Amino acid sequence: MSGTRPVRDPQIWFCPNDGLDVATSTLLARHWLDEHEQEIARRFLFERDRRQYLVAHCLVRRVLFLESGVPEAEATIWRSSRGRPFLRAPSTGRPGSERELDFNLSHAHGYNVVAVARDRRVGVDVERLDRSGERGFEWIVESFAPEERAYLAALPAGSGRDRATLRLWTLKEAYAKARGLGLGLPFDSFAFELDDEQGVLGFRPPEDDSADRWSFAELEPRPQVLVSLAVERGPDGAAPQRLLVHDGFPWGRAAPHEVSLPGAHRAPHPLPGAAR
Ligand SMILES: CC(C)(COP(=O)(O)OP(=O)(O)OC[C@H]1O[C@@H](n2cnc3c(N)ncnc32)[C@H](O)[C@@H]1OP(=O)(O)O)[C@@H](O)C(=O)NCCC(=O)NCCS
Repeated sequence: MSGTRPVRDPQIWFCPNDGLDVATSTLLARHWLDEHEQEIARRFLFERDRRQYLVAHCLVRRVLFLESGVPEAEATIWRSSRGRPFLRAPSTGRPGSERELDFNLSHAHGYNVVAVARDRRVGVDVERLDRSGERGFEWIVESFAPEERAYLAALPAGSGRDRATLRLWTLKEAYAKARGLGLGLPFDSFAFELDDEQGVLGFRPPEDDSADRWSFAELEPRPQVLVSLAVERGPDGAAPQRLLVHDGFPWGRAAPHEVSLPGAHRAPHPLPGAAR
C-alpha cells in the first residue's frame, strides 16, 4: 500500500461521474463528507450539480486515504482565504503523514480529476471541448496574455483554434490553482507557448515566479476532455520525471499508467506584433 511506502511521483486520478453510481455516492458522501461539504451539497439547485460535487468530494477523500492512510471520514480539510483546500496534517503519526501531501481538485461537466504530490504544489484543471456553449471560446481569450492572443489569432477559426484556446485555458487554470490564487491571478500576467499537438514549449511566469520552478502536462483521458497539470519542483530542486495516471473510482489499487514529464521550459518567444 502506498500509505506505507509513499509514491514520490505526482499522480492524478481521473473519474467520470458514472464511475460512482448515484446511490453509492450519496451513501459515501453521507458518511465521508464534513459539515462544510454537506452544507454546500445541500445548496445546489440542480441535481446534476449536486451529483458532480458528491462524486468529486468522495474521490478526493478516497485518494487522500490511499495516499496518507487517513480514513475518508477523518480527513480534515482546511481551506485558504482564497478557497484552496489542503489536507491538515494528522497528528496521529499514521504512515504517509511524514511528508506534506498536496492535492488539487477539478470537476466539470461529468468529469473529476484529483492531482496529488508530495513536498510540492500541484494544480489541475479539466474542461470539455464539446461544451463551449453559445458563447464559444472567444470570450475567454480576452483574458489571455498578448502573445497567446496573437498565437490564437493566427490560427484559422474552427475546431483547431478552439482546442488551442482550451489547452491554454486549462494550463492557466492549473498553474493558478497550484499557486492557490485561482482567478485572482490575472491571466494576462503569464503565458504559455504550446507545442502543436500536446505539451508546453515555453512558459513566461508572472513577475513573482520563475519558469524553471514548474513542469506542465496535458492529457486527454477521453476524447474532447482536456486535463492540464502544473507541478512544482521538489525541495531538492529536481523536476518530476513522470506522472502516474489512474482512471476510474479507486476502489482498489489498479496499476496506474505512466506519462513522462518534460524537462525545463524556455521563455516563450514573443510573437511578431505581440506587445508585452
Ligand atoms: C479555483 C477556481 C479557479 C476554480 O475554477 P473552476 O474551473 O470553476 O473549477 P474547478 O473545478 O477547476 O476547481 C474547483 C476546485 O478547485 C479548488 N479550489 C478552490 N479555490 C482554489 C484556489 N484558490 N486555488 C486552488 N484550488 C482551489 C476546490 O477544490 C474547488 O472545488 P470545490 O469547491 O468543490 O472544493 C476559481 O473558483 C477561483 O478563482 N477561486 C478563487 C476565488 C477567490 O479568490 N476567492 C477569494 C475569497 S472568497
